[in-house]
Amino acid sequence: MGRIVVVTGGGSGIGRAIAARFAADGDRVYITGRTEHSLVRAAEELDGSYPGEVVAVVCDSTRPRDLALLVDEVNEHIDVLVNASGGLVAGKPANDPLEELRETWNAYVAQNVLGAVLTTAALRDLLGPRSTVISIGSIGAERRGGAYGAAKAALSAWSAGLSAELGPQGVTANVVSPGYIAGTDFFQGGMTEARHELLIEETHDKRPGTPEDVAELVFFLASPGARHITGQTIHVNGGAYTTR
Ligand SMILES: NC(=O)c1ccc[n+]([C@@H]2O[C@H](COP(=O)([O-])OP(=O)(O)OC[C@H]3O[C@@H](n4cnc5c(N)ncnc54)[C@H](OP(=O)(O)O)[C@@H]3O)[C@@H](O)[C@H]2O)c1
Repeated sequence: MGRIVVVTGGGSGIGRAIAARFAADGDRVYITGRTEHSLVRAAEELDGSYPGEVVAVVCDSTRPRDLALLVDEVNEHIDVLVNASGGLVAGKPANDPLEELRETWNAYVAQNVLGAVLTTAALRDLLGPRSTVISIGSIGAERRGGAYGAAKAALSAWSAGLSAELGPQGVTANVVSPGYIAGTDFFQGGMTEARHELLIEETHDKRPGTPEDVAELVFFLASPGARHITGQTIHVNGGAYTTR
């Protein structure tokens, strides 16, 4: 029987590649996102391309009301929860610089750590022995300050705590932390040729990452051979950041 998989932010980029990887394995995959038309289109495309079933559930990971609907929709044992939603946040100019800074940090924290915390808490009762929770972090947590990097660092800290909390019940929890991944909507049109080249130059294998690079690592972490891997942040970045 196929597994039950939930991928937040599964309508595009890395989340979509993760959903495709599990659907290719014959799993039933729920993908979430905030934009109904693109999410539904992605689900239809994936559903028609792979043996597994792909279901769209419009849900903002940061909104408890949306999450309650997601719980009702899934309503069965979840084998794999992937918290992939996140990313950059458009700034809102304000007259008071401190007010603007507060808004920006609140938005980054909500988008890149609170969404994963709330989604996991909402779905907690559907997780059990042999479930895994995999959250998508970022190389930004290791290398840069700012609200995005700080929020992704907090995601790793939270995930390690989650591992300790749920480990005795047979649930694993890890963060997969990508380096530069080309071909997603992450940079919202803001990537320049010069920056693209610079990010490639930082890698050892001299190429950008692909969403599939990340999806393969997530798929492995959800496999029976990975049951003793928990509480970790695991990097997929072509050597752009090394742990030694
Ligand atoms: N691309 C990179 O270089 C890179 C590097 C390191 C880490 N990451 C991380 O990888 C993850 C996926 O990013 P990506 O590169 O695949 O970018 P992406 O193509 O923009 O994918 C993000 C997806 O998440 C959804 N989403 C955003 N906020 C959401 C929310 N609050 N609730 C539910 N869904 C939400 C978006 O759809 P809607 O806007 O319709 O909701 C979108 O489908 C993010 O966590 C990002 O921080 C990316």
